[in-house]
Amino acid sequence: FEKWVLTVTAQTPTNIAVIKYWGKRDETLILPINDSISVTLDPNHLCTTTTVAVSPSFEQDRMWLNGKELSLSQGRYQSVLREIRSRATDFEDKEKNIKITKKDWGKLHLHIASYNNFPTAAGLASSAAGLACFVFALAKLMNVKEDESKLSAIARQGSGSACRSLFGGFVKWIMGKDEDGSDSVAVQLADEKHWDDLVIIIAVVSSRQKETSSTSGMRESVETSLLLQHRAKEVVPERIKQMEEAIASRDFASFTQLTCADSNQFHAVCLDTCPPIFYMNDTSHRIISCVEKWNRSEETPQVAYTFDAGPNAVMIARDRKSAAQLLQRLLFYFPPNSDIDLNSYILGDKSILQ
Ligand code: PMV
Repeated sequence: FEKWVLTVTAQTPTNIAVIKYWGKRDETLILPINDSISVTLDPNHLCTTTTVAVSPSFEQDRMWLNGKELSLSQGRYQSVLREIRSRATDFEDKEKNIKITKKDWGKLHLHIASYNNFPTAAGLASSAAGLACFVFALAKLMNVKEDESKLSAIARQGSGSACRSLFGGFVKWIMGKDEDGSDSVAVQLADEKHWDDLVIIIAVVSSRQKETSSTSGMRESVETSLLLQHRAKEVVPERIKQMEEAIASRDFASFTQLTCADSNQFHAVCLDTCPPIFYMNDTSHRIISCVEKWNRSEETPQVAYTFDAGPNAVMIARDRKSAAQLLQRLLFYFPPNSDIDLNSYILGDKSILQ
């Protein structure tokens, strides 16, 4: 080989589930026990930017996250690297006189640099954006000729929810039936333009790292929660259908009812786990009460809320007007410098604050 460096840079936003994934039927392949649906955030806000580079002068695979080197020996990175390398195809850049055959890809080493434009430890689904971006950038670099759904099955093996970040708009992760996971893929339900009145507001209640990781939390719930079995079999399949209809017809009242109910059931499953898992805290509960009270006082709901494996609230307002009203209400209940930080995580147009 001549000495050269080939690079690709990609940017991937994070996604927030409105029908939650909680529980694996296969921990190695990361196969879920139910379908899930999410909304992908605007790439200008919470996103990961990753540059991948390959060069014959690199002596080993290395990765940096926000400027700090981390080990690639974790199983999740190894599975993804193996899957991508096995699908690499011949590459040629005649101008630069670079030729890499399918076989060469297995011998060449990579350097990967990734940045999150939001706090990595804040429980804002950083692994979803990170793993999706890792897979997408590597697939481009290694000339992998597979569509986003096929790539989603690889991202899934890095972090389950990452498979949904390969698409914008509303995305469904189909649990699939095959043992090898080849049909457990993400598909786009509607693109980002389909329902662009919605405004997403994130209230950071705590930026502390969660005490129970989603991996161990899910394992404990699968082993001990009867409510989780009931949810996966009897509740989610119907909810998925209703949510697809609500999204297709932009029915905000149904969307809100389903989103809030599903977040609350997910946290009920956490309480039903032995020992119980507490992801939300008092501030999260006060935010729920504030939104519920307001929704009930209006003719039709104004805001949906949902909480992942942490206390931070993700609120989806029906339009800019209700987003502005929501902020006023929240600022009244939680004045500046209190328990939550609102200003830094208003997604979309910041002028709604004025
Ligand atoms: O993909 P993980 O292991 O980070 O799990 C994500 C779990 C939830 O965020 C709570 C739900 C979801 O569907 O994203």
